[in-house]
Amino acid sequence: MTEKTPFSLQGKKILVTGASSGIGLNICKSVVASGGEVIGVARRTDRLSAMVKELGETRASFINADLSVDTGIEKIIAEIPEINGLVYAAGITKLSPLKFIKRQVLEEVMNVNYFSMVLLLAQITRHKKLKRNADSSIVLISSVAQQIGTKSSLLYTGSKGAMSAASRVIANELSSQKIRVNTIEPGMVQTAMASEMEDMLSSEAVEKDRKQYPLGYGTPEDVANAAIFLLSDASKWMTGQSLTLDGGRYKLLD
Ligand SMILES: NC(=O)c1ccc[n+]([C@@H]2O[C@H](COP(=O)([O-])OP(=O)(O)OC[C@H]3O[C@@H](n4cnc5c(N)ncnc54)[C@H](OP(=O)(O)O)[C@@H]3O)[C@@H](O)[C@H]2O)c1
Repeated sequence: MTEKTPFSLQGKKILVTGASSGIGLNICKSVVASGGEVIGVARRTDRLSAMVKELGETRASFINADLSVDTGIEKIIAEIPEINGLVYAAGITKLSPLKFIKRQVLEEVMNVNYFSMVLLLAQITRHKKLKRNADSSIVLISSVAQQIGTKSSLLYTGSKGAMSAASRVIANELSSQKIRVNTIEPGMVQTAMASEMEDMLSSEAVEKDRKQYPLGYGTPEDVANAAIFLLSDASKWMTGQSLTLDGGRYKLLD
């Protein structure tokens, strides 16, 4: 019999937001492939049902919830059992130059990308839903955008900067319970969100950006692999850190 490796998620229940598409969906698949059980959260029930059908009802389930409203978060808290890990991959993006930004759109992006992450973790902590003193792990999907200053990205970049900064405070507060908190900061990953960004840019601008990635754009699987590492006991001495995944885009400069 093969021995369980520290990278295995066997015996771990993982809550994944953003489970209906892109990075979150791939993390759900990887959790099950790594031996764990997954509870996926999103609004599109048809996609969540398809995920459960593909992964099997014994290892996958879903909660249909809108994270941008308190009732959505309350529903998640009411329905989840004690979990061993959580990935916050839900997120939206909007492009706008500073001078056109209004309160409504600022609140819309901050709501899903930041406020709901904080409020969900607050409730999970208050209701003791994450197993304590058992190497539990929280993984927040931030973005490499928060390390740089791309024009017109303020709405998104600000929300991810808030997420990454908050992750260190949360990591510090939860460390006494051996609950770890780390972020992943990806560059461009080929998902629906990336296509939405590309649609807002000229084909020349997209091509120029693509060429600046020495290893090309990332795939959702690339991010899922890093998430599995951070959820597993293989990273049990790692907390308060950010893992940049960008195919060499921002460090390997000519
Ligand atoms: N793709 C990239 O290049 C890239 C790069 C860096 C970081 N990221 C980050 O990675 C995460 C996943 O992005 P992705 O590219 O996989 O995007 P995606 O394919 O558009 O997926 C976004 C997910 O967020 C969920 N979501 C959005 N609003 C929600 C709400 N109000 N309530 C509940 N769920 C909600 C969506 O589910 P429903 O619509 O079904 O609710 C969907 O599952 C995001 O946080 C994003 O900022 C992406």
